[in-house]
Amino acid sequence: MKRNKMLRPGISLLIGMLVFVLLAACGGSSTNGTTAGGSCSSPPKLAKKANYKVGFSQNASNNPWRLAETASIKAEAQKRGDTLVYADAANSGDKQVSDVQSMIAQKVDVILLAPITEKALVPAVLQAKTACIPVILIDRDVDHTLAQPNKDYVTFIGSDFVQQGKRVADWLIQNTGGKAKIIELEGTTGASPAINRKKGFDDEIKTSPGMVLLASQDGDFNRDTGRKVMATLLQAHPDVTAVYAHNDEMAIGAIAALQAAGRHPGKDVIVVSIDGERDALNAIINGQEGTSVQSSPFFGPISFDTIDQYANGTKLPDWIVVQDKQFTKDNAQQNLANSF
Ligand code: AHR
Repeated sequence: MKRNKMLRPGISLLIGMLVFVLLAACGGSSTNGTTAGGSCSSPPKLAKKANYKVGFSQNASNNPWRLAETASIKAEAQKRGDTLVYADAANSGDKQVSDVQSMIAQKVDVILLAPITEKALVPAVLQAKTACIPVILIDRDVDHTLAQPNKDYVTFIGSDFVQQGKRVADWLIQNTGGKAKIIELEGTTGASPAINRKKGFDDEIKTSPGMVLLASQDGDFNRDTGRKVMATLLQAHPDVTAVYAHNDEMAIGAIAALQAAGRHPGKDVIVVSIDGERDALNAIINGQEGTSVQSSPFFGPISFDTIDQYANGTKLPDWIVVQDKQFTKDNAQQNLANSF
C-alpha cells in the first residue's frame, strides 16, 4: 500500500509530461480540440470561450479599402471584448508569412487572414493547421489545389469577384451600345480578386463582338501605379474609349493620367471599376466615372459572427459570399455618407 501511494505522484507527473509534449508538438493550443493522438482535427476546432485571442493578418494598409477593413475588424474585436493581435504585412508575402508564424507563436485562438496572393500564404495556412489553430480567410482566397476549405482552413468569407467583373462588363456593354476599345488595369498579380475580376470581365465582353480589349496590365491595386501604367498604355493606344480598373484606386489614377494627356474621362473615355470608395463615388457624381461595383470592406461583424458559429459547432460552407451593391449616378450621392 505504502509503495503504491509513493508511485501515484510519479505516474501523474509522467502523464502530465506526456500531455505537455503532445500539446507542444501541436503548437500548445490545448483548447483547440486536439485528438488523443495529439494531432488536430481537419480543420482544427475552436474551443468555445467568452473571449478570444484573435490574430488578424492584413496584407497592406496603403489604400482606403484596406484601412476600412482593418477599422471594421478592430472595432468589432473591441465591441466583443476580444483581444486582437494585429499585423500589417506592408504588401509583402514573405512578411505576411512571418506575421502568421508570430501569431502561432503567440498562441492565438484563431487567425483571420487576408492573404496577399493565392499562393504565398499557403505554407502559413498549413503551419497554423499543424499548430491546431483554425484559420478563417477573409477578403481574398488561396489556391484550392494547395489548401482546401473545411480541411486546411475553416472557410473563405468574401465577395464573388467573377461576378463583380461580369457586372462591370454588363454595365459597359449597355452604356456603350456594345462598342468599346478597352484598357484593363489589373490588380496585384496572383491575388484572387485580380485573377477572378479579370475572368468575369474578359469572359463577359467576349459575348459582345464590338467590345475590344486593347491591353491588360498589372497596376498592383495602387493609385499611383495605375496612373503610371495608364499613362504608358495611353501612348500605345490613343484610340482607347474605355478603362476597366480592378479597383477604384487604379481608376482614380487612370482618370489623372487621362486628364494629364488632355483627354476627358467620362466624355471621350468611360472609366469603370470596383470597390465603392468615396473618391470613386465622387468621380461618378462629377461625371468622370461610369460605375463602381461594390466590394465591401466591412468584414468585422461577419468575421466575428463566423468565429462564434464555428466555436458553437455549426457546419460552415466552404465560402461565405459577401453581397455587394453597384454604384452609378442614380445612387452614388445617397451612398456617399457610408463610403470609405
Ligand atoms: O481584396 C480586395 C481588394 O484588395 C480590393 O478591391 C482592393 O481595393 C484591395 O487592395
